[in-house]
Amino acid sequence: MIFKSILAGAVGLAAGLQFTAPAISQETVKVGLIATLTGPQAASGRQKVAGARLYMQLNGNMVAGKKIELIIKDDTGVADVTRRHAQELIVNDKVAAIAGFSLTPLALAVAPVITQAKMPAIIMTAGTSVITERSPFFVRVSFTLPQQSVPIAEWVAKNGAKTAVSLVSDYGPGIDAQNAFKMRFEEKGGKVLEQLKAPLANPEFSPFLQRAKDLKPDALFLFVPAPTAGALMKQVIDRGLTEANIKVIGTGDITDDDQLNGIGDSVLGLVTSHFYSAAHDSALNKKFVAEFKKANPGMRPNFIGVGGWDGMHAFYEALKKTNGDTDGTKLVDAMKGATWESPRGMMTIDPQTRDVIQDVYIRKVEKRDGELYNIEFDVVKQVKDPMHK
Ligand code: DHB
Repeated sequence: MIFKSILAGAVGLAAGLQFTAPAISQETVKVGLIATLTGPQAASGRQKVAGARLYMQLNGNMVAGKKIELIIKDDTGVADVTRRHAQELIVNDKVAAIAGFSLTPLALAVAPVITQAKMPAIIMTAGTSVITERSPFFVRVSFTLPQQSVPIAEWVAKNGAKTAVSLVSDYGPGIDAQNAFKMRFEEKGGKVLEQLKAPLANPEFSPFLQRAKDLKPDALFLFVPAPTAGALMKQVIDRGLTEANIKVIGTGDITDDDQLNGIGDSVLGLVTSHFYSAAHDSALNKKFVAEFKKANPGMRPNFIGVGGWDGMHAFYEALKKTNGDTDGTKLVDAMKGATWESPRGMMTIDPQTRDVIQDVYIRKVEKRDGELYNIEFDVVKQVKDPMHK
C-alpha cells in the first residue's frame, strides 16, 4: 500500500517533470555586460556593446538549449559603480557571467566580488597584466600592454633608434607599457632617457611633450587609453612632434580605429603595434567590419568592439562545452585553453594564466578609400604576456 502510493507519487512526479521539461529547456542564461557608456571613456562602452550585440545577432541567442540574455549596465567609468553593478547582477539578476571592464581600476574593483561568488568575469578591454592574477575567475580576451609594447620596442630598435622617451597615462596599463618598452628597448642596446607620466583624468599633455622634444630622443613611445587618443594626438601634432626629427611610435591605442579619422592626415606613416586593425586582411574580419558598420551606421569597429565580440564567443563556446551547466568554475575551466579565429586572427586563452595569447602586428597609418587605417606590415606570432610568471 505504502509502496503503491510512493510509486503513484513517483509516476505523478515523472509526469509533472515531463510536463515542465519544455519550460526547463527554455531556461534563460543571463550575462551581465558592464560597459562605460557615459563620461570621458564612453567611446569604449559604445564599441563593446556594439561588438557583443553583433555577435549575438549573427550567432543567435540559443546556446546548449538555453536562451542567452545580455543585461547591459553603464558604470560611468567609476570603480564603485562597477563593483555595485557586479554585485547586483550576481545577487539580483543571477547572471552566469559578467563581462566588460573598460579601465583597469574598474576590473580590479570586482576581483574580490567574483572570487567570493565564483563568478566568471570576461575582460573585454582592460590591459594591465596583473588583473588576471587578482582572481582565478578572470578570463581576458583583450590584450595586455606589455604584450603589445615589446614588439614595438624591438621594431624601433631594429630600425635604428638608439634613444627613446616614453609618455604614458599614469596608471596600471601606462606603467606596464612604459616598463615593458624600456626593458626590451634596452635589451636591444637602446637607452630610455626619461619615462614621463601624465594624469589619466583631464590630461594636459603639452608640458610633457615639450619635455620630450627638448630631450631630442630618436623615438617617442606613447600610450593612453584609446578614448583619450584623439586629445593626445592633437597635442602631439600641435607641438610639431610629427614633423620633428623624432619617430613617434606607440601601442595601437593611440591610433585606434574609432579615433583615427578624427586625428587627421598628420599621422600618416605613424607606426604602432597592436592586435587588431579594422583593415586586418581576413575573410572573417571583412565580414565582421561590414556587419558592424551595417548595424552601427557611422561607426567602424576598433579593438574594443572586437573584444566585445570575442568575449561573447568565449562565453558561448564555454556554455556549449559544459552542456549548458552554468557553474562558474566549470565555465572558467571550459574557457581555459580555448582557441578560435577572431576577426583579429587566431587567439587562445592560456590555460595557466587565463590571459590571451595572440598575434601582435606592426602597422603603419595609411589612407585607403579616403579613410585612415592601420595597415599591418609585420607580425610577431602568438605572443604571451611577458609579465606573468
Ligand atoms: C586600458 C583602457 C583602454 O581604453 C586602453 O586602450 C588600454 C588599456 C586599461 O585601463 O587597462
